[in-house]
Amino acid sequence: MSMDFENDNASGLRPLAVVTGGSKGIGFELAREFAEHGYDLVICAEDVGVLGEAAQALSGLGPDAGSQVRTVSADLSTYEGVEQLAGELQALGRPIDVLAANAGVGVGGDFARETDLDDELHMIELNVSGQVHLIKRVVREMVERDRGQILITSSIAGVLPGPREAVYAATKAFLRSFGHALRNELSDTGVGVTVLMPGPTETEFFERAGLEDTRAGQMNKDDPAMVAKAAFHALEHDRAQVVAGVKNKVQVGMAAAMPDTAKAAFHGEMTKPAKE
Ligand SMILES: NC(=O)c1ccc[n+]([C@@H]2O[C@H](COP(=O)([O-])OP(=O)(O)OC[C@H]3O[C@@H](n4cnc5c(N)ncnc54)[C@H](OP(=O)(O)O)[C@@H]3O)[C@@H](O)[C@H]2O)c1
Repeated sequence: MSMDFENDNASGLRPLAVVTGGSKGIGFELAREFAEHGYDLVICAEDVGVLGEAAQALSGLGPDAGSQVRTVSADLSTYEGVEQLAGELQALGRPIDVLAANAGVGVGGDFARETDLDDELHMIELNVSGQVHLIKRVVREMVERDRGQILITSSIAGVLPGPREAVYAATKAFLRSFGHALRNELSDTGVGVTVLMPGPTETEFFERAGLEDTRAGQMNKDDPAMVAKAAFHALEHDRAQVVAGVKNKVQVGMAAAMPDTAKAAFHGEMTKPAKE
């Protein structure tokens, strides 16, 4: 599939990007990239106050009159929350050029002895069910128009089974597999799918997951703006997958030649307590 990525919208309107988890972290920086490249935005997250601050920071960025930003506060771990976002997108009456399906959380800790089942089921509902649900609602209209791009935020954890974040890493493996399969199904259409695989990135992710006291939590992490720039470049070139950062590219390259037992042991070193 090849297309002029920017400002080639048959409707004559500015292109529109929808970013879930767009209020902070990687999602906020993705939204900033789109705004600076001439897109209007819909950003979705739960916290209304933080969403409002993000919208203020993003409004007016970019060429001409600048980006117009709408916010949707919804809990994307619930069926109703995803339907609410899908309904608000439909009510806009304008095509979605890019969906960045990015909202996600982690849960850190030993599966058998430490983590809470409800936290893990909630994470699966957000990272897996919510993503599948939202993409289902958006992709059909993209296929009918024969145009659009879907960016799915997986992780390098998607290729590295993750001791002490076992369920999280599995959700990211799901997203990676799903993204590549969907891309293949859509290869005869004008709709592209790109899987984003960040490594450890400086956001609230580690604190929220209870992973801040691990080796990965304490190490120097990537700048979310760098991750977003790599993602935007990959979308512009319709890449199947983008691993942000050189160190992460090396790790993913090495992982391809390692048995799963070795990948799990490697990842497990990163999620050990920092002081061990
Ligand atoms: N940081 C890393 O090291 C790293 C590495 C690889 C992949 N990732 C992935 O990158 C994505 C973004 O994470 P981040 O690092 O940017 O973390 P973050 O700073 O914690 O941002 C998470 C975003 O998701 C939203 N969100 C969380 N739960 C939600 C829910 N139930 N419904 C709607 N929105 C929800 C948050 O909004 P509220 O605060 O309002 O809930 C926030 O906007 C995630 O999918 C994560 O798995 C992160």
